[in-house]
Amino acid sequence: MAAKRSVTAASVRGRRVLVRVDFNVPLTPTGAVADDHRIVETLPTLKHLEAAGARTILISHLGRPDGTRDPKLSLRPVVHRLSSLLGRPVPLADDIVGVHALEAAARLQNGEFLMLENVRFRPGEEANDPSFAAELARLGEVFVQDAFGTLHRAHASTVGVAKRLPTYAGFLVDREVRELSRLVEAPESPYVALLGGAKVADKLPLLTSLAGRADAILIGGALAFPFLKANGADLGATSVESGLEDEVARFLAAAQQAGTKVVLPTDLLFEVPGERDAQHADIGSPAPKGVARDIGPRTRDQFYLALADSKTVFWNGPLGLAEDLRFSAGTREVLAGLATLSGYHVAAGGDSARIANDLGVTNAFQYVSTGGGAALEFVQGVELPGLAVIPDA
Ligand code: 3PG
Repeated sequence: MAAKRSVTAASVRGRRVLVRVDFNVPLTPTGAVADDHRIVETLPTLKHLEAAGARTILISHLGRPDGTRDPKLSLRPVVHRLSSLLGRPVPLADDIVGVHALEAAARLQNGEFLMLENVRFRPGEEANDPSFAAELARLGEVFVQDAFGTLHRAHASTVGVAKRLPTYAGFLVDREVRELSRLVEAPESPYVALLGGAKVADKLPLLTSLAGRADAILIGGALAFPFLKANGADLGATSVESGLEDEVARFLAAAQQAGTKVVLPTDLLFEVPGERDAQHADIGSPAPKGVARDIGPRTRDQFYLALADSKTVFWNGPLGLAEDLRFSAGTREVLAGLATLSGYHVAAGGDSARIANDLGVTNAFQYVSTGGGAALEFVQGVELPGLAVIPDA
């Protein structure tokens, strides 16, 4: 895809620069930042603006407060972490487009930062309300888009502001587009997609888009269950998303016709009530009286073999219940195996970055995207509204 006009082309000295970032990060039960990957990845843009003498006003959302103020979703802990990463205090404007925000923005000196409170506290954000977008735009003179993870949302702070101010792409957006484009535009073959996670209905468009583009799709996690069930496998007490039979059959037919190999688990690990340890069962044998939680060791080997001669790998979603030690081996072992292989490996979507980090296997990847739904849509070839609105270079 054509490169977007870069922040390096913007004249920013002494000007108020609105920067949309995606600081929608996981929080600990006590409300601290649990994973700062998304914050860290915006630092190149923020440091560039600081050095160039911009007066930077940051906009982000956190969670889904649905247009009302929810103190549990305040950006205060995020601003705390950002301040320590930047090595300078970043004040938080308690409102978003009100008089406090305007005054705080007007007081900024060259090289300083201000963060606005969670933009989704205002109903105009998700509605892309024109008057809210105009109020936001009034805070700045230039707009820099660096919220890659939010580019699939046509909101006031992604599309509305971009239509009202001279708009540039930040370094993170630029890098994400460059890296993920390698999966979309002529990926080096063999291209293998390794997919897991839970929400099967959500993943079917991704699977369908990969039929014919990937050489092989390896399916683990709960994503595999409807496929295994369609093949008549006994899954014990495992709950399987229903009503997907036709779509699953359509996808399998499309993959077969396009020459994309689909690899499903041949064994699983089950959680059985009253048993402390995981129970193993081969597909084709009667299942234990429990719930499938992970791929088994035979499947791990099979997946590793399918990855062994790949040149390009895209991973999304855990292959089992990765947060439970008894059921994390599938994801951990397959990704640890991937780390020993050469090629171009990308992790993207949902909690994949956090899970790879928790399991200590980020070294399996040449690139770990900050995007959830945005990255998955990009990989599917869907046009992202927040990206389309940035002028080309
Ligand atoms: C994400 O985490 O995927 C982005 O921040 C977008 O969040 P949303 O799904 O709530 O729009």
